[in-house]
Amino acid sequence: MPLSLAKMRRQYTLDGLDETRTPDDPMVLFGLWMEQARDTESPPVEANSMALATVDEQGRPHCRVLLLKGFDKDGFTFFGNYASDKGQDLATNPWAAMTFFWPGLERQVRVEGQVHKLDPGLSDAYFTSRPLASRLGAWASPQSRVLDDRAALEALLAQTERRFINQPVPRPEHWGGYCLRPERLEFWQGRADRLHDRLDYRLQDGTWQRSRLAP
Ligand SMILES: Cc1cc2nc3c(=O)[nH]c(=O)nc-3n(C[C@H](O)[C@H](O)[C@H](O)COP(=O)(O)O)c2cc1C
Repeated sequence: MPLSLAKMRRQYTLDGLDETRTPDDPMVLFGLWMEQARDTESPPVEANSMALATVDEQGRPHCRVLLLKGFDKDGFTFFGNYASDKGQDLATNPWAAMTFFWPGLERQVRVEGQVHKLDPGLSDAYFTSRPLASRLGAWASPQSRVLDDRAALEALLAQTERRFINQPVPRPEHWGGYCLRPERLEFWQGRADRLHDRLDYRLQDGTWQRSRLAP
Protein backbone atom coordinates (compact mmCIF):
# COMPACT_ATOMS: atom_id res chain seq x y z
CA MET A 1 0.00 0.00 0.00
CA PRO A 2 1.49 3.39 -0.93
CA LEU A 3 2.23 5.71 1.97
CA SER A 4 -0.39 8.44 1.97
CA LEU A 5 1.64 11.28 3.46
CA ALA A 6 -0.48 13.98 1.82
CA LYS A 7 -3.47 12.93 3.95
CA MET A 8 -1.58 13.18 7.25
CA ARG A 9 -2.84 16.34 8.93
CA ARG A 10 -2.73 17.31 12.59
CA GLN A 11 -4.63 20.17 14.27
CA TYR A 12 -2.44 22.17 16.65
CA THR A 13 -4.47 23.34 19.65
CA LEU A 14 -2.24 23.18 22.73
CA ASP A 15 -1.12 26.74 23.28
CA GLY A 16 -0.81 30.29 21.90
CA LEU A 17 2.05 32.75 21.69
CA ASP A 18 1.24 36.33 22.66
CA GLU A 19 3.95 38.94 22.05
CA THR A 20 2.57 41.13 24.85
CA ARG A 21 3.28 38.35 27.35
CA THR A 22 6.66 37.00 26.16
CA PRO A 23 10.04 38.08 27.57
CA ASP A 24 12.00 40.81 25.76
CA ASP A 25 15.05 38.53 25.86
CA PRO A 26 14.59 35.51 23.56
CA MET A 27 17.15 33.52 25.55
CA VAL A 28 14.78 33.71 28.54
CA LEU A 29 11.91 32.44 26.39
CA PHE A 30 14.17 29.69 25.00
CA GLY A 31 14.98 28.63 28.56
CA LEU A 32 11.28 28.39 29.45
CA TRP A 33 10.49 26.36 26.35
CA MET A 34 13.47 24.03 26.83
CA GLU A 35 12.43 23.40 30.43
CA GLN A 36 8.87 22.59 29.37
CA ALA A 37 10.16 20.34 26.56
CA ARG A 38 12.45 18.50 28.99
CA ASP A 39 9.49 17.91 31.32
CA THR A 40 6.93 17.07 28.63
CA GLU A 41 8.55 15.29 25.72
CA SER A 42 8.74 11.61 26.52
CA PRO A 43 11.36 9.22 25.13
CA PRO A 44 12.35 8.54 22.41
CA VAL A 45 12.33 12.32 21.76
CA GLU A 46 15.40 13.98 23.30
CA ALA A 47 14.32 17.51 24.20
CA ASN A 48 17.84 18.83 23.54
CA SER A 49 18.16 17.35 20.05
CA MET A 50 18.19 19.78 17.13
CA ALA A 51 19.03 19.97 13.44
CA LEU A 52 22.20 21.96 12.70
CA ALA A 53 22.67 23.34 9.20
CA THR A 54 26.06 24.47 7.92
CA VAL A 55 27.21 25.54 4.46
CA ASP A 56 30.33 24.25 2.70
CA GLU A 57 32.87 26.09 0.56
CA GLN A 58 30.78 25.49 -2.57
CA GLY A 59 27.72 27.08 -0.92
CA ARG A 60 25.97 23.73 -0.44
CA PRO A 61 23.98 23.31 2.78
CA HIS A 62 24.34 20.24 5.02
CA CYS A 63 22.03 19.42 7.90
CA ARG A 64 22.32 16.84 10.69
CA VAL A 65 20.91 16.12 14.15
CA LEU A 66 23.05 17.02 17.18
CA LEU A 67 22.50 17.37 20.91
CA LEU A 68 22.53 20.81 22.50
CA LYS A 69 24.74 20.65 25.59
CA GLY A 70 24.14 24.10 27.01
CA PHE A 71 22.92 27.63 26.41
CA ASP A 72 23.44 30.97 28.13
CA LYS A 73 23.72 34.66 27.20
CA ASP A 74 26.69 33.84 24.93
CA GLY A 75 24.85 31.28 22.86
CA PHE A 76 24.16 27.61 22.20
CA THR A 77 26.79 24.95 22.85
CA PHE A 78 27.33 21.63 21.10
CA PHE A 79 30.25 19.21 20.72
CA GLY A 80 31.77 17.13 17.98
CA ASN A 81 34.80 16.37 15.87
CA TYR A 82 36.53 19.50 14.53
CA ALA A 83 37.80 17.53 11.50
CA SER A 84 34.33 16.20 10.54
CA ASP A 85 32.40 17.57 7.60
CA LYS A 86 30.54 20.01 9.85
CA GLY A 87 33.88 21.04 11.39
CA GLN A 88 35.28 21.78 7.94
CA ASP A 89 32.15 23.72 6.95
CA LEU A 90 32.36 25.85 10.08
CA ALA A 91 36.08 26.51 9.58
CA THR A 92 35.37 28.15 6.23
CA ASN A 93 31.88 29.57 6.91
CA PRO A 94 30.92 30.27 10.53
CA TRP A 95 27.25 30.98 9.70
CA ALA A 96 24.91 28.22 10.87
CA ALA A 97 21.28 27.56 11.76
CA MET A 98 19.69 25.29 14.37
CA THR A 99 16.14 24.03 14.53
CA PHE A 100 14.48 22.48 17.57
CA PHE A 101 11.17 20.62 17.13
CA TRP A 102 9.09 19.64 20.14
CA PRO A 103 6.08 17.78 18.72
CA GLY A 104 4.51 17.13 22.14
CA LEU A 105 4.26 20.90 22.67
CA GLU A 106 3.54 21.73 19.00
CA ARG A 107 6.57 24.03 19.02
CA GLN A 108 9.58 24.88 16.90
CA VAL A 109 12.50 27.22 17.61
CA ARG A 110 14.85 28.40 14.87
CA VAL A 111 18.21 29.96 15.72
CA GLU A 112 20.70 31.61 13.36
CA GLY A 113 24.12 33.11 13.94
CA GLN A 114 27.86 32.63 13.74
CA VAL A 115 29.68 29.73 15.37
CA HIS A 116 33.05 29.82 17.12
CA LYS A 117 35.06 27.13 18.88
CA LEU A 118 34.60 26.98 22.64
CA ASP A 119 37.44 27.95 24.91
CA PRO A 120 39.69 24.81 25.21
CA GLY A 121 39.25 24.79 29.01
CA LEU A 122 35.47 24.46 28.62
CA SER A 123 35.88 21.68 26.03
CA ASP A 124 38.27 19.88 28.41
CA ALA A 125 35.78 20.17 31.27
CA TYR A 126 32.94 18.71 29.21
CA PHE A 127 35.14 15.97 27.71
CA THR A 128 36.23 14.86 31.18
CA SER A 129 32.58 14.57 32.26
CA ARG A 130 31.81 12.07 29.47
CA PRO A 131 31.76 8.30 30.10
CA LEU A 132 35.03 6.48 29.32
CA ALA A 133 33.56 4.73 26.26
CA SER A 134 32.55 8.08 24.74
CA ARG A 135 36.01 9.53 25.42
CA LEU A 136 37.68 6.56 23.74
CA GLY A 137 35.23 6.83 20.84
CA ALA A 138 36.24 10.46 20.26
CA TRP A 139 39.86 9.29 19.76
CA ALA A 140 38.97 6.20 17.75
CA SER A 141 36.42 7.50 15.25
CA PRO A 142 37.58 9.64 12.32
CA GLN A 143 34.11 11.20 12.12
CA SER A 144 32.67 11.58 8.61
CA ARG A 145 35.56 9.72 6.92
CA VAL A 146 34.89 6.52 4.90
CA LEU A 147 35.41 3.19 6.69
CA ASP A 148 35.87 -0.16 4.91
CA ASP A 149 33.40 -1.86 7.25
CA ARG A 150 32.20 -2.10 10.88
CA ALA A 151 35.23 -4.25 11.74
CA ALA A 152 37.51 -1.34 10.78
CA LEU A 153 35.81 0.86 13.38
CA GLU A 154 36.05 -1.86 16.02
CA ALA A 155 39.77 -2.29 15.22
CA LEU A 156 40.33 1.46 15.66
CA LEU A 157 38.56 1.30 19.03
CA ALA A 158 40.63 -1.72 20.16
CA GLN A 159 43.83 0.12 19.17
CA THR A 160 42.70 3.18 21.18
CA GLU A 161 41.84 1.04 24.22
CA ARG A 162 45.35 -0.46 24.12
CA ARG A 163 46.93 2.97 23.81
CA PHE A 164 45.15 4.34 26.88
CA ILE A 165 45.19 1.23 29.06
CA ASN A 166 45.42 2.32 32.72
CA GLN A 167 45.94 5.94 31.70
CA PRO A 168 43.75 9.03 31.73
CA VAL A 169 42.08 9.78 28.39
CA PRO A 170 42.64 13.48 27.59
CA ARG A 171 40.57 15.42 25.09
CA PRO A 172 41.93 14.97 21.56
CA GLU A 173 42.75 18.26 19.82
CA HIS A 174 40.41 17.34 16.99
CA TRP A 175 37.38 17.13 19.29
CA GLY A 176 35.65 19.90 21.20
CA GLY A 177 32.84 22.35 21.60
CA TYR A 178 31.29 25.07 19.52
CA CYS A 179 29.10 27.99 20.48
CA LEU A 180 26.52 29.52 18.16
CA ARG A 181 26.02 33.17 19.06
CA PRO A 182 22.44 33.97 18.00
CA GLU A 183 21.49 36.97 15.90
CA ARG A 184 18.02 35.71 15.15
CA LEU A 185 15.57 33.41 16.96
CA GLU A 186 12.08 32.46 15.89
CA PHE A 187 9.54 30.85 18.20
CA TRP A 188 6.71 28.96 16.48
CA GLN A 189 3.63 27.75 18.29
CA GLY A 190 1.17 25.62 16.34
CA ARG A 191 -2.42 26.94 16.36
CA ALA A 192 -5.69 25.66 14.95
CA ASP A 193 -6.41 25.81 11.22
CA ARG A 194 -2.80 26.62 10.32
CA LEU A 195 -3.04 30.13 11.86
CA HIS A 196 0.14 29.54 13.82
CA ASP A 197 1.90 32.07 16.06
CA ARG A 198 5.44 33.07 15.05
CA LEU A 199 7.56 35.49 17.06
CA ASP A 200 10.80 36.60 15.50
CA TYR A 201 13.64 38.18 17.54
CA ARG A 202 16.49 39.95 15.70
CA LEU A 203 19.54 41.45 17.30
CA GLN A 204 19.89 45.07 16.19
CA ASP A 205 22.64 47.28 17.66
CA GLY A 206 22.87 45.01 20.67
CA THR A 207 19.16 44.86 21.50
CA TRP A 208 16.53 42.32 20.57
CA GLN A 209 13.76 43.56 18.26
CA ARG A 210 10.65 41.42 18.26
CA SER A 211 8.04 41.08 15.53
CA ARG A 212 5.18 38.76 14.67
CA LEU A 213 5.46 36.87 11.37
CA ALA A 214 2.65 35.53 9.23
CA PRO A 215 2.30 31.75 9.50
C1 LIG B 1 19.96 11.97 18.24
C2 LIG B 1 21.32 12.26 17.63
C3 LIG B 1 22.25 12.98 18.36
C4 LIG B 1 23.51 13.28 17.83
N1 LIG B 1 24.37 14.05 18.55
C5 LIG B 1 25.56 14.39 18.01
C6 LIG B 1 26.42 15.32 18.69
O1 LIG B 1 26.11 15.86 19.77
N2 LIG B 1 27.62 15.61 18.10
C7 LIG B 1 27.99 15.09 16.89
O2 LIG B 1 29.09 15.41 16.42
N3 LIG B 1 27.18 14.25 16.21
C8 LIG B 1 25.97 13.90 16.73
N4 LIG B 1 25.12 13.07 16.03
C9 LIG B 1 25.57 12.55 14.72
C10 LIG B 1 25.36 13.62 13.66
O3 LIG B 1 24.01 13.65 13.24
C11 LIG B 1 26.26 13.38 12.41
O4 LIG B 1 26.08 12.09 11.91
C12 LIG B 1 27.75 13.58 12.72
O5 LIG B 1 27.95 14.70 13.56
C13 LIG B 1 28.56 13.78 11.43
O6 LIG B 1 28.08 14.89 10.75
P1 LIG B 1 28.96 15.64 9.61
O7 LIG B 1 29.46 14.54 8.71
O8 LIG B 1 28.01 16.54 8.92
O9 LIG B 1 30.07 16.34 10.33
C14 LIG B 1 23.84 12.79 16.53
C15 LIG B 1 22.90 12.07 15.80
C16 LIG B 1 21.65 11.83 16.34
C17 LIG B 1 20.63 11.10 15.49
